[in-house]
Amino acid sequence: MKLNIAVLPGDGIGPEVTNQAVKALKAIASEFNHNFKFTTADVGAVAIDKHNDALPEETLELCKKSDAILFGAIGDPKYDNNPSAKVRPEQGLLKLRKELGLYANIRPVKAYNTLLDKSPLKKNIIEGTDISIYRELTGGIYFGDKTLSKDGNSASDLCAYSREEIERVAHLAFVAAEHRNHKVTLVDKANVLETSRLWRKVVKEVAEQYPDVTLDFLFVDNAAMQMILNPKQFDVILTENMFGDIISDEASVIGGSIGLLASASVGDKYAMFEPIHGSYPQAANKGIANPIASILSAAMLLSHFDLHNEAELIRLAVEKSLKLNITTPDINSVVNTVTTANVGDFIEDFLFHPKDSNLN
Ligand code: IPM
Ligand code: MN
Repeated sequence: MKLNIAVLPGDGIGPEVTNQAVKALKAIASEFNHNFKFTTADVGAVAIDKHNDALPEETLELCKKSDAILFGAIGDPKYDNNPSAKVRPEQGLLKLRKELGLYANIRPVKAYNTLLDKSPLKKNIIEGTDISIYRELTGGIYFGDKTLSKDGNSASDLCAYSREEIERVAHLAFVAAEHRNHKVTLVDKANVLETSRLWRKVVKEVAEQYPDVTLDFLFVDNAAMQMILNPKQFDVILTENMFGDIISDEASVIGGSIGLLASASVGDKYAMFEPIHGSYPQAANKGIANPIASILSAAMLLSHFDLHNEAELIRLAVEKSLKLNITTPDINSVVNTVTTANVGDFIEDFLFHPKDSNLN
């Protein structure tokens, strides 16, 4: 298969982890005779420094003519504590999601058997957890009108949703549930928010088209508690933009590190693959960032194009690296010397010699 892949490494640890994912994709291309072409472009704080724009026009154009986008991370501390900054790195990512219509962000969360003791949560609670979070990505409070009064003493962010915005992501969540454990949990705050009541109404209607799938509801505060009390109760979680942002970081504790969580952001036309972690600036260029989230995002990219054997091989390589403790310090309590590139090299090598490898 021929694929043009736009690579947007971004800020902080973004470039390091994305390099490892590209290495894995190149190994897959060579083993399975695919033709993957990679083109890199700037986004985020690096793009502001170079072009005074978090999402330069050439980057957006490149994404639009590519088959898929591999995204690194975004954010720089110099903007975080500066409330009056006019341009912010995050705007690059948000604009990209909006312009490309990436309305569904899919975040798989699972407990790896080899990492059960890395999570601060008890083994018997997390063992067997397998959740797929469907986060709405281009609406809600992230994108509603924002105001700041002239005197700077009051501000507002509007949370708005339309039926259509809810329906399209809901359909994806139900289709996913049909192929999984047939359960969708809608996470909302319908006891308080009008938008949440609209979500409930619309999602109930969508559910009628999927009679094999059970729908239940949880208020987000309760969901946050249930996520660590009994995560195994969840199959597909469907939720709006900001709740999804928050509960997916919380859910990453189940896997043992946020450095393991991949995601796919999809719309009707484009698809982007990004780790859920941020730019982790304190770790940049130290070789300690975990590349697995980015490598697993590359596996999601392959699945998106129905290259399921290829994606599965990457997942096997990742599991093998975890099993052998070839892991970065976030999950490696024994050896502290395994670097970002070491993990990438191990996985690349596994992909080049899959027949010599076995999981036992
Ligand atoms: C994420 C990130 C982004 C978000 C930030 C960087 C804008 O936290 O992808 O989860 O809030 O969506
Ligand atoms: Mn987030």
